[in-house]
Amino acid sequence: MQNFIYDIPTKLLFGKGQIENLTSVLQSFGKNVLLTYGGGSIKKSGLYDDIMQRLTTSHFHVVELSGIEPNPRIETVRKGVELCHVHNIDVILAVGGGSTLDCSKAICAGYYYSGDLWEMVLHPQTITKTLPLVDILTLSATGSEFDAFGVISNPITQEKIGSPFCYPNVSICDPAYTFSVPALQTAAGSADIMSHVLEVYFSEDASCDLAEGISEIILRSVIKNLPIVLKDPHDYDARANLMWNSTWACSGITGMGKINYTWSCHAIEHKLSAFYDITHGVGLAILTPRWMEYILNEKTVDRFTRFSRNVWGLEDDDPYVLARKGIQALYDFFVSVNLPMTLHEVGIDETHFEKMAEDAVKYGELLDAYVSLTKEDVMNILKACL
Ligand code: NZQ
Ligand code: ZN
Repeated sequence: MQNFIYDIPTKLLFGKGQIENLTSVLQSFGKNVLLTYGGGSIKKSGLYDDIMQRLTTSHFHVVELSGIEPNPRIETVRKGVELCHVHNIDVILAVGGGSTLDCSKAICAGYYYSGDLWEMVLHPQTITKTLPLVDILTLSATGSEFDAFGVISNPITQEKIGSPFCYPNVSICDPAYTFSVPALQTAAGSADIMSHVLEVYFSEDASCDLAEGISEIILRSVIKNLPIVLKDPHDYDARANLMWNSTWACSGITGMGKINYTWSCHAIEHKLSAFYDITHGVGLAILTPRWMEYILNEKTVDRFTRFSRNVWGLEDDDPYVLARKGIQALYDFFVSVNLPMTLHEVGIDETHFEKMAEDAVKYGELLDAYVSLTKEDVMNILKACL
């Protein structure tokens, strides 16, 4: 087992009604709050009114940054930083999915950053200080509620970069807030959860029993609970399991004790959503089975047979047949939850494949993947997704 340090400073308040703690949590950081949110789902669900009532009753001064885009943009980060300076903000309250949380993390870091904010995204090691961040999660997917990363897009350079900005100080995770997430977004979020596990699970190092076991149970739990939620979006326990899975899937725990490889599907998907602004989890669902098929070889086959057995309960005497059965099971699962499974379905053709593949291997990161990928390999995987 490899050495590691595990240190997550975020306090997580999980479950029904945890919003009762909101004002006391915020109180410890100050009175001037920047409330950040997306395109309006929190207004439709009533969460916005609930929050505003609590904050005004407790005499907080609230400034709003609304309209944070899925795949949040650097311009929105700039807007948020300016609001923080103008209104002398003490703490950011981010309410939404990964995009709102990610953008808010970048604003927290950008507040104290003296140079250009895109440079900060590209060189996060230059961040020295950040504003406090409290969030209320409304979508189970990214794990942004329990990690330091934020993924920010620059539409001008067609780049989408994930950087460590800051951990949330406190994350309020009430599964009931995810009741209103539409079916496609729920399925896409679940594909993202699974991908966070799979990116790490596929590694030759299986010496950490805990990492292996947690990975497999998260995958099995998503496979069990996603269909339940799609049938009954208000099933609290199934929503709660998806939310808890999302928190742990991207928390680093599944990689503790293992070699830290570049995440292949994420590196490629971030290029798809940088060029086409597609939903992150949809891109991953399309890519993952094709990537698996592409990297199946003598070195990897044992990992795939373990995946087939322990995640899907499959058997076969021939390891390659068993491996392919597992990949097919994942593909069929995504089909069964109505995820689009070709790039054509999401309006993507070959036009930008060359540039996307070039960008995906930039700085040689994909050469450090579990199975090393060149530009040509990425092109082949993308073509298999058409
Ligand atoms: O904007 P609103 O109106 O809130 O609607 C959102 C958005 O349209 C909607 N939504 C969220 N909660 C809802 C809801 N609709 C109804 N009811 C609710 N309760 O869902 C849509 C998607 O929201 P978004 O925040 O974009 O989704 P997600 O959580 O999947 O975040 C995706 C972003 O996170 C990045 C992705 O690349 C993408 O930019 N990632 C962040 C990571 C991290 N921080 O560690 C890791 C991931 O791998 C990922 O790259
Ligand atoms: Zn992801």
